[in-house]
Amino acid sequence: MFFKELNFGQCKSYLIADLDAGKAALIDPLAGNAERYLSVLAYHQLKLEFVVDTHTHADHRSGCVLLKNLTGAKHSMHHISPQPHVDVRFKDGDELMLGNIPIKILHTPGHTPDSISLYVNKDRVFTGDVILIRGTGRADFAGGDAGEQYDSITQKLFTLPDETLMFPGHDYRGNTQSTVAEEKSSNPRITGKTRDEYIEVMDTLNLPLPERIQEVLQINQSEVDDDKLKFPLLAELSEVMQLDAQQIKDKIESDKTPLIIDVREGAEFHGELGHIKGSRLIPMGKLPAAADSLDAERDNEIILVCRSGARSTTAAAILTGLGFSQVKNLSGGMLAWNEKGYAIER
Ligand SMILES: [Fe+2]
Repeated sequence: MFFKELNFGQCKSYLIADLDAGKAALIDPLAGNAERYLSVLAYHQLKLEFVVDTHTHADHRSGCVLLKNLTGAKHSMHHISPQPHVDVRFKDGDELMLGNIPIKILHTPGHTPDSISLYVNKDRVFTGDVILIRGTGRADFAGGDAGEQYDSITQKLFTLPDETLMFPGHDYRGNTQSTVAEEKSSNPRITGKTRDEYIEVMDTLNLPLPERIQEVLQINQSEVDDDKLKFPLLAELSEVMQLDAQQIKDKIESDKTPLIIDVREGAEFHGELGHIKGSRLIPMGKLPAAADSLDAERDNEIILVCRSGARSTTAAAILTGLGFSQVKNLSGGMLAWNEKGYAIER
């Protein structure tokens, strides 16, 4: 197997390839380095089969959609990722081949709900930010959960063979690789700690939440990158009222049905997850322009809907900022709605 880290920095992007088959994949590519990746692929005469984000990134702009548009590679992420342009949606345990290289997908939530690790060639694992070399990724925003992170690390990654090489999404100390055995024995965040002790450690890190990070996260979630759309601040997002699928179904069935605005792309609205009957489709990038046409609804109840509830939280905060007074969000989005088995239309 041909293998290379391509950024030479703290933020890691990995190329894996079967040179004989001429097939390659990129893990966590950065938008700003797309030309570098295309040069390396051309030099080795490789066809880019797929591009993977191990999770929805908050610290850099993902290059997956750009590379997909330039090469036709399939954009691949976990099933619950909010990203609208994903072609292959992985579930835990999925297995695929890149030429002769076997790849197994492990759902390893904790850093984010949609975090996956890729167990490649039966000798290495790409962990994203769930576990880092002698550390772990933060679990305090973007749906992170320290308990889930502990379970992902101890019950999934640490059950791989001890000699498995480990490649994380970041490293801030100049390390390039580790092994499962080394992290089991020497990771100061995890080694010798119970689940509760780990949660306690993560709860008391008190890391700052830079607003710029939140903005990048929202762009990666929505693939809307437009100067006209001003993304809300973290404080504005956390003020959005979240309602679960049951509460929203009850409202729809009451005599005062709220306006439901679905902010996904058209293909998603009519796709696998369908949409709620009577909902109005306004893709997120078009929301500011559509606000005028919603003028009559300024003081009425409005429910925002998307795939996972992430993009629509952003949309709800935007509408609230534009003066709409009763905007609420479907928590968990159409994934949660479908999980309940509620009616949909396509
Ligand atoms: Fe991350």
